[in-house]
Amino acid sequence: DIYIQVTRGIAPRNHLFPDVPAQLALTIRHPRQTPEEAYEKGISTLLLEDERWANCYIKSLNLLPNLLAKQAAASKGCKEAILVKDGYITEGSSSNVFAIKDNVLFTTPATRKILSGITRANVLECAQEQAIQIREQNMTPSFLKDADEVFITSTSVGLLPVSKIDEVKLPTFRPVTVALKHAYSLRTAGTKAYQ
Ligand SMILES: Cc1ncc(COP(=O)(O)O)c(C=O)c1O
Repeated sequence: DIYIQVTRGIAPRNHLFPDVPAQLALTIRHPRQTPEEAYEKGISTLLLEDERWANCYIKSLNLLPNLLAKQAAASKGCKEAILVKDGYITEGSSSNVFAIKDNVLFTTPATRKILSGITRANVLECAQEQAIQIREQNMTPSFLKDADEVFITSTSVGLLPVSKIDEVKLPTFRPVTVALKHAYSLRTAGTKAYQ
């Protein structure tokens, strides 16, 4: 994996943009491996309120709510927190969320409420190539729990099936997820060990 971080540069801390050269940090790491079992069995997830940008009393950098959500999910034996804002699913704490209902692929629209990931975009292109009907539409928690298939996407996990949302178990037959995962693997072949 290549991880790029850009800062405005080194300067006294006064909240203003400093008039100094920007700094670029580039690190190369071994990709994190998700156990094969997780792709076969799917992961458990926990629905939590999306508290990003909502706690101005905490003086913190922006990723804290994502970390708190992931940790809260982990403390209940779940691999990902799926966030809900104003009654609708936004995304995972570090992933985007997809559902399949009656062979239609649903995902939260790419508005300012989500980080619309590069994997999300690739999976949507894979779906288009396979003539799978797509609806970028807000989903309620009950819609997600009632879906035929649910999966999350991110650069680190690729396409990872969800087997459980809170206490609700999802079907283990996931034909659309399998087809999309296969198409995504072909697309990223040679770039990563998703195969
Ligand atoms: C909040 C959030 N949404 C979605 C994603 C998925 O983005 P990508 O597919 O570009 O890795 C990430 C990745 O870290 C994330 O942190």
